[in-house]
Amino acid sequence: MEQFDAIVIGAGAAGMFCAARAGQAGRRVLLVDNGKKPGRKILMSGGGRCNFTNLYIEPAAYLSQNPHFCKSALARYTQWDFIDLVNKYGIAWHEKTLGQLFCDDSAQQIVDMLVAECEKGGVTMRLRSEVLSVTRDEAGYLLTLNGEEVRATRLVIASGGLSMPGLGASPFGYKIAEQFGLKVLPTRAGLVPFTLHKPLLEQLSVISGVSVPSVITAEDGTVFRESLLFTHRGLSGPAVLQISSYWQPGEFVTINLVPDTDLHEVLNAQRAAHPNQSLKNTLALHLPKRLVECLMLLHPEQFPDVSLRQLNSRQQNGLVDTLQQWRVQPNGTEGYRTAEVTLGGVDTHALSSRTLEARDVPGLYFIGEVVDVTGWLGGYNFQWAWASAAACAQAL
Ligand code: FDA
Repeated sequence: MEQFDAIVIGAGAAGMFCAARAGQAGRRVLLVDNGKKPGRKILMSGGGRCNFTNLYIEPAAYLSQNPHFCKSALARYTQWDFIDLVNKYGIAWHEKTLGQLFCDDSAQQIVDMLVAECEKGGVTMRLRSEVLSVTRDEAGYLLTLNGEEVRATRLVIASGGLSMPGLGASPFGYKIAEQFGLKVLPTRAGLVPFTLHKPLLEQLSVISGVSVPSVITAEDGTVFRESLLFTHRGLSGPAVLQISSYWQPGEFVTINLVPDTDLHEVLNAQRAAHPNQSLKNTLALHLPKRLVECLMLLHPEQFPDVSLRQLNSRQQNGLVDTLQQWRVQPNGTEGYRTAEVTLGGVDTHALSSRTLEARDVPGLYFIGEVVDVTGWLGGYNFQWAWASAAACAQAL
């Protein structure tokens, strides 16, 4: 039977990085994954260019029942450390927006870098491998993989969350946590598009594909200023993905579709200068024309087909409210099928924030998305994967 210092389950972002660093520190590491290639989510990420970190990483950008938990790991392995590594491999990158760093060429470069780092650490990688059972005795952990048994003194669970089952996601990590008595907090899809109730969906179907800058607010007061996209299923775009992590079923979100304009001022000034200009053409200076036409069909009271001279103050107040405080009650989300992340997971109260080791189960570690730490859209989730992996690797 093969004996290792550490077995890492999951060759995703966190698992590969942890295995590589532990290997380079002299540990004998086995990295196991159920897929046929490593880093499948990395390859899909950032539209194939991997948004690998963010310039503005801060603990406030992470959701967790214990908001302090992520601080230690994030402070000890920062975005600058990962940028140094990317630079060392000569991977060209650029900032797209809001501090989000992407590869110039391809996410494959990040996977190749992680594989190279694992090779440098002498990591043994077993792909297409299912973990059939895990037991623990005084010598450590005994794992049954398909057809073979392996042992290690330490076991790292980096098997991710439930999002995108097509990319190998499984509840494995939560099951192991429960097997060893750790609490698992309820999970739900995060960074995910909203679906809409049928009548509204049908009304908005004509503007599928239209994107606008927006400010979106959840009932808990969380606000994001990013673009919003109307789709044939509902609402998407960065603003919606971000707020979805703060939304609970049944709640409303409030959307400002014209966030950078004082609409009353604009309408009053235009009325003084061009009283015969149509409301439709005036609004189309600030919003996509298809959206204006759709609103005129949906809310003929507030958006009458009249000239500015004919628009009365009740109608003007109504249309400004509709555009700047549009309250929408999503029907739900698209769920794990399209979600970028899984909220909830292994309760951080059961883990050390310095090493990610289970407090009551020596030698058992949980890193990356399987833990109840979920970042915003924009490279925050990969930075948590790198940072939690680095903190754990140091302790192996
Ligand atoms: P990850 O999911 O990466 O890896 C888990 C691994 O465990 C997988 O390889 C899986 O096959 C394996 N596994 C699962 N169950 C197993 C079992 N029973 N036995 C063996 N192996 C098992 N984040 C970001 O910061 N920037 C971005 O650009 C994006 N973009 C993005 C796009 C899309 C489409 C998705 C779905 C997600 C993103 N994300 C992202 C989120 C990011 O991908 C995610 O947070 C990290 O991949 C989490 O890393 P982990 O290593 O924890 O899990």
